[in-house]
Amino acid sequence: MDEKKILLVEDDGAQSALLALELKRLGFRVETAREAPAACARVEKELFDAVVTDLRLGTGDGLTVLASVKSSQPETGVVVITGHGSIDNAVAAMKAGAFDYMTKPVEPEELALSLRKSIEHRDLVGEVRRLRAEVRERQGFAKIISASPAMERVLELVAKVASTDATVLVTGESGTGKELVARAIHENSPRRDGSFVAINCGALPEGLLESELFGHVKGSFTGADRNKRGLFEEASGGTLFLDEITETTPGLQVKLLRALQEGEIRRVGDNHPVKISARVVAASNRDLLKLVAEGKFRDDLYYRLKVFPIAIPPLRERPEDVPILAESFLKRARVRTGSSASRFSPAAIKAMGAYAWPGNVRELEHAVERSLIMASGPRVELADLPPEIAAVSAPTRRKKSRAA
Ligand SMILES: Nc1ncnc2c1ncn2[C@@H]1O[C@H](COP(=O)(O)OP(=O)(O)OP(=O)(O)O)[C@@H](O)[C@H]1O
Ligand SMILES: [Mg+2]
Repeated sequence: MDEKKILLVEDDGAQSALLALELKRLGFRVETAREAPAACARVEKELFDAVVTDLRLGTGDGLTVLASVKSSQPETGVVVITGHGSIDNAVAAMKAGAFDYMTKPVEPEELALSLRKSIEHRDLVGEVRRLRAEVRERQGFAKIISASPAMERVLELVAKVASTDATVLVTGESGTGKELVARAIHENSPRRDGSFVAINCGALPEGLLESELFGHVKGSFTGADRNKRGLFEEASGGTLFLDEITETTPGLQVKLLRALQEGEIRRVGDNHPVKISARVVAASNRDLLKLVAEGKFRDDLYYRLKVFPIAIPPLRERPEDVPILAESFLKRARVRTGSSASRFSPAAIKAMGAYAWPGNVRELEHAVERSLIMASGPRVELADLPPEIAAVSAPTRRKKSRAA
């Protein structure tokens, strides 16, 4: 383990020397400062792994040192040392962002432990930030692959609406990338550090869905043995993705409409309204207008959701996207399967371009994965593609996808 560099700020020369000696013995590299101005000057120029400061100093005080660390190297933890009987000061220090406090006389082992904890904490915070950025890169915009004017327009809409709190309705056939678009909206919004909570409205019966979405209070129904927050509350400050919104019952649609209009919900079994601050993105692969006309979906909810509609065209209407998506799925699947095939034969590309892709991008993703398993050479050949796709290019072109 490399030596961690600590700044020890203490005006009493004897105490400082003693503590520095002990900390060195415990494996730290220790720099010292006697007064607040000197300490502040150092933390402005030099990075420390952690700082220990006495609260009472000859010139200035520990809170000044703390403030200086917080502004010039906010990740660095500060442990504050107080004389006994000054708990109020310790509380003030914690409020001002100290990592820990200790009262005199200080046990060197205890101080060392606290310093190590503060360094560990700093490292974890850094790691979470890095991982978040990585996930964002992988799931956000970066992951929406497109080369077609149609998808360019979709991406423009995503970019425009992301910064607002408007409710978005994403429509498109199954597998066109609705959830991906919903995530991109979240990841590019000011809410990106909040959670993205997704629920498939078609997967649960009405009662369960209601308590999932709105939460419930203890005793509101058999089995409700505790209070439970709903997803609207979980997604506070973030985004709630209501997938397959058309699969909700009329009763639930009324409640959703009320939640969207009033910005508040009621937990099941509770009359108190709870304010919500989740942004809602809904999705559907069905023809909503038709469902409204047939009376199967409430028109008021439809109009409320449709404030900002984004329609993702099916893959067959954006053929420019097929080769670039196929290439990217090939690259990704290669890593996973360890396959040696690194490209498609021209015949395979032609077949994929002519196929109608009823399952859209998801079907393409699976087809590529499968063909990579089938391929034995350096190329994915026509024969390695799923039969319904390979069959397309056999007869004359234009007669599309009869084999499907
Ligand atoms: N433009 C794209 N670039 C990269 N990957 C994509 C793109 N569009 C879709 N995908 C991938 O295709 C798969 C299906 O996408 P997604 O789940 O978002 O579709 P969906 O419209 O929600 O489908 P369903 O209606 O069946 O729920 C996912 O693995 C997604 O990552
Ligand atoms: Mg989906």
